[in-house]
Amino acid sequence: MAIDEAKLQAFLGKAVGDLGAAMSAVLISLGDELGLYRELAKGPLTSVQLADRTGTNERYIREWLGSQAAGGYVEYDSAHDRYFLNDEQRLCLADPQGPVDLPGAYNIIEDLFFIKDRARENFRTGKGMEWGEHHRCLFHGTERFFRAGYNANLLSSWLPALDGVTAKLTNGAKAADVGCGHGASTILMAKAFPRSEFVGIDYHGPSIETAQQRAAEAGVRNARFETADATSYREKGLDFIAFFDCLHDMANPAGAARHARQALVPDGNCMIVEPFAGDRLQDNLNPVGRVYYSASSLVCVPVSLAQRGPALGAQAGEKRLRQVVVDEGGFTRFRRATETPFNIVLEARP
Ligand SMILES: C[S@@+](CC[C@H](N)C(=O)[O-])C[C@H]1O[C@@H](n2cnc3c(N)ncnc32)[C@H](O)[C@@H]1O
Repeated sequence: MAIDEAKLQAFLGKAVGDLGAAMSAVLISLGDELGLYRELAKGPLTSVQLADRTGTNERYIREWLGSQAAGGYVEYDSAHDRYFLNDEQRLCLADPQGPVDLPGAYNIIEDLFFIKDRARENFRTGKGMEWGEHHRCLFHGTERFFRAGYNANLLSSWLPALDGVTAKLTNGAKAADVGCGHGASTILMAKAFPRSEFVGIDYHGPSIETAQQRAAEAGVRNARFETADATSYREKGLDFIAFFDCLHDMANPAGAARHARQALVPDGNCMIVEPFAGDRLQDNLNPVGRVYYSASSLVCVPVSLAQRGPALGAQAGEKRLRQVVVDEGGFTRFRRATETPFNIVLEARP
């Protein structure tokens, strides 16, 4: 064994960073739940002031602040012994309705520990695990983390990148959001396009109930929600169908594409939002790929394998998705409409 000291130090440096990040995961969630980030977002505070304003214990808060400052999630002003969020930290940590909601993602991580025993068993047996078998924090975390991306991109860049969709929705169209989860994307579109009618469809009944509540809370009247499988919902004559971060999860993604094609009007549009990925493994060996392969191992692949699906995984890539949507699903036109660092946005036409 010939250890290269420089490589060893580099690897250990990275691993210690990862270890600190993993250990602080629960603290990030607590910072969100206890309102610590939101209070710090208002301006610099000592640990005593932060504890006072959030009704928490100062000794715990001081330790939490140490962890956050060491990790670069909070700034420390040593001259005044005060802590604050800089503009970028505030944007990502303290605004669940904004364009980035990092703490929301930590609800997803919470679920991964809940299902660890089951995952071990699945790795051994090859069995799967349905979406609905996860802890409900997965559903909330998914809603929060993905909603932020939709807030940032859906209305401003994804829909305009499609062929005539914004005009159709503005004038009044029939649209479906398949695999809608808690309906964040459905509600966003329904609010923006009051002349259109939206239906959110998901096979997970409790998610549909939450979506209905969210729509009622938001005062949205042009969106309804139905529990149904992506391969067998009843809607027909749709002008627009969207799949947000869900086609790769499905047990029968080709069947979902075929069903969408026959549910669309002849000049309809289908938007498939998928995790950003290249076509080859080596294209995805980066931090975003790491997040997605990890979630995919524990959530996406098992959901598809639960019904003996093809388990496309969260890093399927455009080439594989084209096979599913065009070769197996029967769409004739297919293109990458746009992309962000986290998503590719594909458009298919009948
Ligand atoms: C990663 S979540 C995305 C949820 C939502 N689109 C979002 O972006 O927040 C995947 C969703 O696909 C749904 N799903 C998986 N397989 C499905 C199927 N066969 N039919 C309908 N929905 C399905 C799950 O219940 C889950 O809500």
